[in-house]
Amino acid sequence: MNKRIKVMTIFGTRPEAIKMAPIILEMKKRSDKFEPITVLTGQHKEMLDQVMDIFNIQEDYNLHVMKAQQTLSSITTTVINKLDSIIEGAKPDIILVHGDTTTTFAAAISAFYHQVPLGHVEAGLRTWNKYSPYPEEMNRQMTDILSDVYFAPTELSKENLLKQNLNQDRIYITGNTAIDALKQTVDKDYHHDVLDDISDQHKIILLTMHRRENQGEPMRRTFEVIKDEVLKRDDIEVVYPVHLSPAVQNVAHDVFDGIDRVHLIEPLDVVDFHNMAARSYFIMTDSGGVQEEAPSLGKPVLVLRDTTERPEGVDAGTLKLVGTNQDTVRKAFDELIDDDQLYKNMATAQNPYGDGKASIQILDAIKDIFDNNKLSGDNNE
Ligand code: UD1
Ligand code: UDP
Repeated sequence: MNKRIKVMTIFGTRPEAIKMAPIILEMKKRSDKFEPITVLTGQHKEMLDQVMDIFNIQEDYNLHVMKAQQTLSSITTTVINKLDSIIEGAKPDIILVHGDTTTTFAAAISAFYHQVPLGHVEAGLRTWNKYSPYPEEMNRQMTDILSDVYFAPTELSKENLLKQNLNQDRIYITGNTAIDALKQTVDKDYHHDVLDDISDQHKIILLTMHRRENQGEPMRRTFEVIKDEVLKRDDIEVVYPVHLSPAVQNVAHDVFDGIDRVHLIEPLDVVDFHNMAARSYFIMTDSGGVQEEAPSLGKPVLVLRDTTERPEGVDAGTLKLVGTNQDTVRKAFDELIDDDQLYKNMATAQNPYGDGKASIQILDAIKDIFDNNKLSGDNNE
């Protein structure tokens, strides 16, 4: 193929933007071969703008779909409706989506309706549990079924795709673009105002929690344990950049307001977050992306979920799945603070997500697909 390959990326939330940005920036470097078209659904707003600003990327289109406390149905239908004219007008050679959000699934089905080939970045992650995480597990399974090209971060994610008989000639193991992003952000001379209020002798625990299945009681009971620990131990501080979802904001403020050594702050931009993670003692999170970044930073993570689609980090030793049962969270918290050997084992695990060159590999794969006309035929074996 001699003409430039028109690659439309469609994304809409913070984590998708962080992990698509390295691909867009790489396309700009290789502008003789690639023509990037950037479409934001705007499923997120402020938290998405932060990422676009940091990476200095301008979108070509923004669907502006975000509403306060939006439903899954409204995001899905609005995105599908609004993408019609954009895909028709821009006529991309391939559409790329990332991960497992409602934007991902809605954009994937739009690509299918317009018969445009679809590439899935971060393909093949599975818990095989329909409602955990909800709705992400089915978003990623449905997106993989609709995809033509798969960028699997690890061997295990490739195996998951093969279990569904997807075409192995179009599965590329690339590592995760989260590591590409991390290479550009962490700086040992980092400073943030919140750190001025924290003694060097204190251990920082970085907390994030936002998953839909954790909203309500699971979130509240987990926060109660963390509050107890802070009140019990005078040398720990919790930094919690609170997701903007009202379902999260309300519980976080309800439980933590007035507790001195819990710092509830606005969502951090990605440079701040990566550096805050690098400065922390350990991390507590239900985030997917944070589970991928922590092994690279050498930070133990207590995963506040019952399942994970990132078992590579558990096998490597960095992640411990603790869920939201109060006794289990408390026990895991105490062990990680009190048992130095356990801490050391978790903190020295190997990063399983590649060498930070995933975006280069993804673009090489797309070029291979078009140069060698690999898109003919079915996406099942
Ligand atoms: C979404 C994804 C989830 C992903 C998460 C990353 C779905 C169903 N969920 O969940 O997989 O892990 O993003 O953060 O796709 N809000 C703002 N400003 C923002 C962003 C959100 O005010 O910049 C508020 C809005 O009230 C919005 C609410 O947060 O309605 C929830 O946002 P939504 O995208 O529906 O769900 P998330 O929990 O962010
Ligand atoms: N992150 C961020 N600021 C924050 C919290 C997280 O930039 O205040 C980054 C984090 O480094 C990771 C991504 O956002 O790259 C994870 O996003 P999130 O937890 O919202 O979604 P998930 O990965 O669970 O889908």
